[in-house]
Amino acid sequence: MDGLELLVDLHRSARRQGPGGDDETRLAIRLSGLGDASDVRIADIGCGSGASTLVLASEIDAIVTAVDFVPGFLAELETASEHAGLRDRIRPLNTSMEALPFQDGQFDAIWSEGAIYSMGFANGVRSWRRFLRPGGILAVSELTWLTNDRPPDLQDHWTREYPEVDTAARKLDVLEESGYAPIGYFVLPKHCWMDNYYTPMRGRFRAFLDRNGNSAEAVALVETEEAEISLYERYSEYISYGFYIARRTSTL
Ligand SMILES: C[S@@+](CC[C@H](N)C(=O)[O-])C[C@H]1O[C@@H](n2cnc3c(N)ncnc32)[C@H](O)[C@@H]1O
Repeated sequence: MDGLELLVDLHRSARRQGPGGDDETRLAIRLSGLGDASDVRIADIGCGSGASTLVLASEIDAIVTAVDFVPGFLAELETASEHAGLRDRIRPLNTSMEALPFQDGQFDAIWSEGAIYSMGFANGVRSWRRFLRPGGILAVSELTWLTNDRPPDLQDHWTREYPEVDTAARKLDVLEESGYAPIGYFVLPKHCWMDNYYTPMRGRFRAFLDRNGNSAEAVALVETEEAEISLYERYSEYISYGFYIARRTSTL
């Protein structure tokens, strides 16, 4: 297996492929005002196996186009949406977030939890804006510094992994500079990382290594994930995902 296949193998059976929570998706929906709307068209970009997609489709009168470039994650979403009785509201779409086949103004909302980093926050919010109707909602969670100063080893790690990591003030600037009016922001609490993401991942390590014959690549992946988890456990007061909710302005 190559690196991406190993990552998919480790994460495919998980409820979430990144930090987040159903209650936090609901909080973002409340801040967006979408819960009161009808016939809403939403794109959930980088949906993974669709934890947020399922909440969106059950809480909002909406059709949700669920985008991911990993077919195995979308297959998990199809099974889950069938079980939840939501299949007619969810349209899985296997494509890259960098080449979306959408029309201008096609969506009332663009959602993306823990995925926009893949093309970079600024690039993502600028590229996706045209798919929103004027006044449409952008809701994205993004790696965010919680303080202005932070321990050097934490700073070095995340700056290396994701050079765009920054404070909420800077992310809000990017949104305003890119043709959005921010209407809400909150920080994902610790349980979204530990209870919903890292602890279940740790529980899968043994079976993952067995399945992959303890290959050097599989062991290296587990070590990388363990290092990230222990960094988070030490420094959770400095780093989280910020959840940004903004409205597309009509100008620009
Ligand atoms: C950290 S996971 C988050 C998944 C999900 N939103 C969640 O919160 O559980 C990032 C997701 O983005 C997807 N992804 C990464 N790069 C992508 C790209 N260029 N196009 C489409 N999907 C991508 C990955 O396959 C993965 O499912």
